Amino acid sequence: MGCILGVSGLGVYQVVAYAYHETIDQGLESVTKALYKSIEPVWGEPKQLKQLAKQLSLNVCLTQVDCLLSQAAGIKQPLTEVTDPVNYYLRLLDESERPLTIAGVQLKQLPIATPAIRRQTLIDTSGIRYRQISLILRTQYQLTGYIQVGRSLKDLDQHLAALRLALFLGWLISMIVIAISSWYLAGLAMQPVYRSYQQMEQFTADAAHEFRTPLAAMHSTIDAVFQLYGQSGSELLSEPVSRTLQVIKRQNARLSKLVGDLLLLARLDQHQLAGEHHLCCLNDVINDLVEELAFLAIEAQVKLVQQLQTPKKLCILGNEEQLYRLISNLIINGIQAIPNGGQVTVTLESGDRCAFIIVQDTGIGIAPEHQGRIFGRFYRINKDRSRANGGSGLGLALACAIARAHKGSIQVQSQVNKGSTFTVKLPLQN
Ligand SMILES: Nc1ncnc2c1ncn2[C@@H]1O[C@H](COP(=O)(O)OP(=O)(O)O)[C@@H](O)[C@H]1O
Ligand SMILES: [Mg+2]
Repeated sequence: MGCILGVSGLGVYQVVAYAYHETIDQGLESVTKALYKSIEPVWGEPKQLKQLAKQLSLNVCLTQVDCLLSQAAGIKQPLTEVTDPVNYYLRLLDESERPLTIAGVQLKQLPIATPAIRRQTLIDTSGIRYRQISLILRTQYQLTGYIQVGRSLKDLDQHLAALRLALFLGWLISMIVIAISSWYLAGLAMQPVYRSYQQMEQFTADAAHEFRTPLAAMHSTIDAVFQLYGQSGSELLSEPVSRTLQVIKRQNARLSKLVGDLLLLARLDQHQLAGEHHLCCLNDVINDLVEELAFLAIEAQVKLVQQLQTPKKLCILGNEEQLYRLISNLIINGIQAIPNGGQVTVTLESGDRCAFIIVQDTGIGIAPEHQGRIFGRFYRINKDRSRANGGSGLGLALACAIARAHKGSIQVQSQVNKGSTFTVKLPLQN
């Protein structure tokens, strides 16, 4: 809108300025021609031209066309009667372009300019512009001089400056009105979108919540069956039934984890858990996690190392359970990304009013085209591999949501076949 209005304003300005200039040029042309005609009988003789110059006395200030014309015709008219000054001037030059007389407005050092050019715009030393028309006075045999009629463009420039200001202010006011109304209208238009988004969030949270009870009931029923009839191969529980129950139990655990993740994500989206923040020490969280996940690392033949590079404990205001979830997701991802032995390093560093948790692995890495998308919900790079690991593609989405809920951020740097580095930045408690 700004561009369209700006271009339209520029167009209007150009048309008005052109019209002004044309009017001025036409006025000057008619004055010059009238003057030319009135002095036509006398210019043939250079002497007569000098006589005419005397009539158009140097210190007479002619400020009206009529006055100019009557002066030219030799009729004296008192200047005090001039009521509507238009700032015209008249210059009579001899054949070698020397001024014989200057009549009209007092010209402050206005250059004579070459009279051979018919229409010219001149600028005097004080910066005022003048429009001038030059006519050659010539008899059949010789050039006798030049007549130049011009007028100051001061009033025109003032009008154009006022027009520019008016157009600019109009543009500015329009932009403000457009911005405010767009903001208001966009808000109105977005309301149904916000509402449906909130309904979707609420639905996810409610559905996940409702799923938890039957899943938990199923889990405890299977456990109860195993407790009653023994794990497998007993008289009461045949081998195939036991195996089926094991599969159901495994899938149930997976589904319960997925539902738990979804519920946590929905609650984080709805800022439901913002009030449940306490002082948590990151050193302790990392220490506990490295200890807890050591077993998983050994199983995967991965070396899990922690580097707590802080002289004192780094504490933040947050939810300990969520922080455990965030860091463990990153460590588990790192361990799962290493196929044949390698190392996962968890580093804790303090920065300027923030803590950095860096989880670095020497695994398969992430190709650049996936790096921006792995934080999306249900996004998995290698679906078969993820499924085998029990991943649903929610791990990093959850990590990202938890970091955001703690006013922090998460970033990834990775090189294929060299490894990945996930950096979590969390603001420290002052
Ligand atoms: N450290 C890593 N190295 C290589 N790939 C990774 C790493 N972390 C995550 N990924 C990839 O990003 C995808 C998304 O990760 P995540 O959200 O944790 O899902 P999942 O639940 O499948 O683990 C996964 O499919 C995985 O392949
Ligand atoms: Mg994961």
